[in-house]
Amino acid sequence: MGQVYIEELSRYEGQEVTIKGWVYNRRSSGKIQFILVRDGTGIVQGVMLKNEVSPEVFALARELTQESSIIVKGLVRADERAPGGYELTLTDLELVHRAEEYPITPKEHGIEFLMDHRHLWLRSRRQHAIMRVRGEIIKAIRDFFDDRGFLLIDAPFLTPAACEGTTTLFETEYFDEKAYLTQSGQLYMEAAAMAFGKVYCFGPTFRAEKSKTRRHLMEFWMVEPEVAYADHEDNMRLQEDLISHIVQRVLRRRAPELEVLERDTSRLETVVKPFPRITYDEAIKILRQEGVDIQWGDDFGGGDETILAEKFDRPVFVEKYPAEVKAFYMKPDPEQPEVVLCDDLLAPEGYGEIIGGSQRIDDLELLKQRMQEHDLPEEVYAWYLDLRRYGSVPHSGFGLGLERTVAWICGLAHVRETIPFPRLLNRLYP
Ligand code: 4AD
Ligand code: MG
Repeated sequence: MGQVYIEELSRYEGQEVTIKGWVYNRRSSGKIQFILVRDGTGIVQGVMLKNEVSPEVFALARELTQESSIIVKGLVRADERAPGGYELTLTDLELVHRAEEYPITPKEHGIEFLMDHRHLWLRSRRQHAIMRVRGEIIKAIRDFFDDRGFLLIDAPFLTPAACEGTTTLFETEYFDEKAYLTQSGQLYMEAAAMAFGKVYCFGPTFRAEKSKTRRHLMEFWMVEPEVAYADHEDNMRLQEDLISHIVQRVLRRRAPELEVLERDTSRLETVVKPFPRITYDEAIKILRQEGVDIQWGDDFGGGDETILAEKFDRPVFVEKYPAEVKAFYMKPDPEQPEVVLCDDLLAPEGYGEIIGGSQRIDDLELLKQRMQEHDLPEEVYAWYLDLRRYGSVPHSGFGLGLERTVAWICGLAHVRETIPFPRLLNRLYP
């Protein structure tokens, strides 16, 4: 029989199968050896009895080092005690490559050591669980938008201008010009929304943030929908629909992974819409009652967000921030022009802002004025202003940070484990 993957073993009970993988662990007791084999889809225990294989094969098994690549043949047996419910009685073993002494052993390692060995660390059980949850979340997001008639439009990564403030731009050369790695695809999605109505982009974004926190990466993935004719209310409804959809889908499909991560899923089961909403003004009151020294007009720090989020059992919207702490493109609230029609969605359990969104300015003159106030050069944004010249409509959108979402759903202390190869302050390796 050809290669079978460990995750499909239940279909082969009583049959002999071939598994191609790596040694996760090995131990022996005299006439019997236990080889834990992993193949990327799971881990299965292979049991080798001395009198059921050739002496060469039994001797070869003794020499196996951790992470050696092997091909094994064995009989699939149901076993309640086995993780995954199946075991293999081994009948043959082929060594593909004997691994050198593997640096990551079952003992505890420091985080810097593990980050230096990220290319190997990804092989471990915990990292597998995280990457599978990440994959599920990505798929849930894509399905959510595709099923609602949104068109996936890819935004450029090399851009001539800033979207989210000029202080966090990664600069590069573009022949004789300067270019920047994109901070957000939003401005391009606004153009696409005027062309296609409902669109989203989903890709990596880059910010040179001099922040060494558990929530910041220099390179992170963001999904950014943009909808023509949608207002601030529509925008928040779309956000709570999306988040409920993601969480419920991960709970349904990735229970084994959440168990590996020892995630308290009762904290996720409550994540169903509608989500509570407070205004920035109310948030300031709450913080002051909690003894935080904060004034109207200040932006929130991570600690402030945690205090606010702890008041609720599901994500909470904070809406209508003062214009001066937010980006240039946000539309003022007609009823309170010093604030803008924006929202941050704060995740529970201290994970902070996972979404930033807003209704956009659709008036040409106001947008020009805001750009001047932000010292943004009009030339490079001329195309963006055009959107307010040719059939301007109210429109809204948001950005959901993938890694913060993964960290929250997996219950991780830091975003560095949520992306295969994290780019952190002072870390560009591996
Ligand atoms: O609030 P932000 O800056 O919003 C935008 O970029 C808008 N242009 C999006 C839009 O309306 N289309 O970022 C959106 C989200 C944050 O809520 C956060 O989840 C994530 O992106 N994010 C980061 N994640 C990890 N590391 C960083 N340095 C991040 N900066 C933002
Ligand atoms: Mg934000």
